[in-house]
Amino acid sequence: MQNGIDKASLDQWYVLDTEALIPVGRSQNRLLGTDLTVVKQADGVIEVFAEGRVEPLPLRHRFGFLWATLGQPEREIFPLPEADEPDRRYVPCGVVTVKASGLRIVENFLDMAHFPFVHTDVLGAEPHTEVQSYDVEIRREEDEVWATNCTFFQPQAALSAQDGITTQYMYRVMTPFTTILYKTCPNAANRWDVIGLFVQPLDPGRCRAHPIMYLIDDVSTTTELIHFQQMIFLQDRIILENQRPVLLPLEPRKEIPTRADASSIAYRRWLKEKGVTYGASTVAA
Ligand SMILES: [Fe+2]
Repeated sequence: MQNGIDKASLDQWYVLDTEALIPVGRSQNRLLGTDLTVVKQADGVIEVFAEGRVEPLPLRHRFGFLWATLGQPEREIFPLPEADEPDRRYVPCGVVTVKASGLRIVENFLDMAHFPFVHTDVLGAEPHTEVQSYDVEIRREEDEVWATNCTFFQPQAALSAQDGITTQYMYRVMTPFTTILYKTCPNAANRWDVIGLFVQPLDPGRCRAHPIMYLIDDVSTTTELIHFQQMIFLQDRIILENQRPVLLPLEPRKEIPTRADASSIAYRRWLKEKGVTYGASTVAA
């Protein structure tokens, strides 16, 4: 524990911003309850300083984002080979501030059961409300949570989708606060569209979420693609900001699981194994 931050949360890489949007000069940011000063030179060189520390923070530049850590990550930023495929559209979707626990944001991203009710007529529609069973595992070598063989009927799975389709999904949680989904690509039968959500916890109950997409889509404009993703995420934000309790309960007795919750159960178990408490409530029921 350091300033109330558990070691597992401290020793991670976090997105601070889309690098191209960081202004030259000094600007303020925040991570895990710590105020940051970002200094960008005219030649683009960036340094980030955390309150109370002299040495600048370690930084990484990946997926168009500036990443930083307050701790000592055991690993580099996770691999994402699709990001380097030349024919993909790289679509950074801006940043959304959410008054919710970062762990809740990741858990909501993994949840298919809410599609028909929150993203009505887009990612789901009645009467197709049932979540089919799927496979979940904690992959020990990569230390990631994966949910595979997920399917859901979607009226408009992507902006480029013409009709309703049964969409296939895979979900991946790389770190406690970063997650990616792979979904059926309406334009390329043998490839996946990739959508990432990288959460920057400001405080236990307040975050910035950085969505990003790597798509196969030659038709839609970038603005249209961003608007589509933002519409989806703003629908999620309403739900996220009204979830109670605000902090994610890691004791399984707190909330009653259903079959649809298999990924959530694995995610919570994995968080607990790691000792992640930032944004979690660990008080037993
Ligand atoms: Fe959602």
